[in-house]
Amino acid sequence: MKIQPARRLRGRVRVPGDKSISHRAAIIAALAEAGGRSRLANYATSADCASTLACLGALGVQIEREGNSVEIEGMGMRWTHAPQRAALDCGNSGTTMRLLAGLLAGQPFNSTLDGDASLRSRPMKRIIEPLELMGARISSDEGGRAPLRIEGHTPLAAIRYALPVASAQVKSCLLLAGLNAEGKSEIIEARGATRDHTEMLLSLFGADVKWGSRIIEGRAVETILIEPPVKLRAHDCNIPGDISSAAFFMAAAALLPDSDMTLDEVGLNHTRTEILDTLQRLGADVSVGDARVESNERRGELHVRGSLSQPAAGANVLRGELIARLIDELPILCVFGTQIVGGLEIRDAAELRVKETDRISAMVVNLRALGAEVEEYADGLRVAGPTTLSGARLEAYGDHRIAMACAVAALISEGESELEGAESVAVSFPEFFEMLESVTER
Ligand code: S3P
Repeated sequence: MKIQPARRLRGRVRVPGDKSISHRAAIIAALAEAGGRSRLANYATSADCASTLACLGALGVQIEREGNSVEIEGMGMRWTHAPQRAALDCGNSGTTMRLLAGLLAGQPFNSTLDGDASLRSRPMKRIIEPLELMGARISSDEGGRAPLRIEGHTPLAAIRYALPVASAQVKSCLLLAGLNAEGKSEIIEARGATRDHTEMLLSLFGADVKWGSRIIEGRAVETILIEPPVKLRAHDCNIPGDISSAAFFMAAAALLPDSDMTLDEVGLNHTRTEILDTLQRLGADVSVGDARVESNERRGELHVRGSLSQPAAGANVLRGELIARLIDELPILCVFGTQIVGGLEIRDAAELRVKETDRISAMVVNLRALGAEVEEYADGLRVAGPTTLSGARLEAYGDHRIAMACAVAALISEGESELEGAESVAVSFPEFFEMLESVTER
């Protein structure tokens, strides 16, 4: 796809429903009391969230979808009516695979979780090991890769587990497994807090989720506790817009002088808004209006103007615990960093290497192609700034967020760019290019 530079972004858009919340709302609605119907409004249009629905459908869950509205009939906690052997295709979606593994480990039937080449290359030991500690039986390919073969009929025991990586997918997997385990499970966010949508939705659907804190290595960290029996009641849910999708518009508008954008109904859960604080610290003019809570999730309007002020002292280095809360926004922040005084250094982000592609190396290659000065580290990178970027041949490496970060980089460059693999945006944001075009002035 050819992309021409933009002069500015102006207008109002509503990004599609949040991907993380959509996966979880579908799974939790399916676990609600048998026969109870939940209506999920503004369900994500992403291919990943369609994978979750397809897997649930293959497991016998009754699902009706009309556009972005999805109705799901609960099957209760234990799915005795599910097919005896379920082979499930998770596509490109790590969230689908890791969350469903937690749900399936305690079910009375065998199942297999598989996905595309990218998903087959991603680390699954992080869920296999704790699920095995709970008594699950899971076999995998070399090095703990998908396909995952889960043997049902194995009673699970509760677990107390300190997460060795800050991962909301692993936390959620274990909370879902804990719903069908004997005793009280406690998941300790030892490496820092991650998105809490699973906890919020379980509470919305009537579960008694408890929060606590523990001292690990001299620091207070949050823990989440769940104890069966848990009875989930069907519940309607209005899913807010995905702040990780909104981030591409925020960055583009902030970088293009004289831009003025409003993003409606964006999810503002406190575990996701680090991107707003970070952009503000880096000098962007971003503000929040009309915030309210619905379906246990805060949401509101975002305003972005195209003007940059000097980054705050110390803001040009991103590292430590905030990395987990910015994980999906790091590719676009790499682009942003090339335009600000002092550039941007990102560390403690080795997790980026095991996303849909190696996002560190993908951004290094693409930013260098655009003429940026980039240093690569095992756990991150450093971009110099401010730099004028020049249009180039860019490559998405089959990764939706790399494609969108490159598209924004192309808008702020001088001269035309050619983006290879632009279609991968469908994994999280199929409307991305159309929506971007609708607010782009050249
Ligand atoms: C997600 C958690 C994050 C994130 C992913 C979605 C989730 O992954 O990168 O896009 O919905 O739980 P990790 O848990 O691997 O950090």
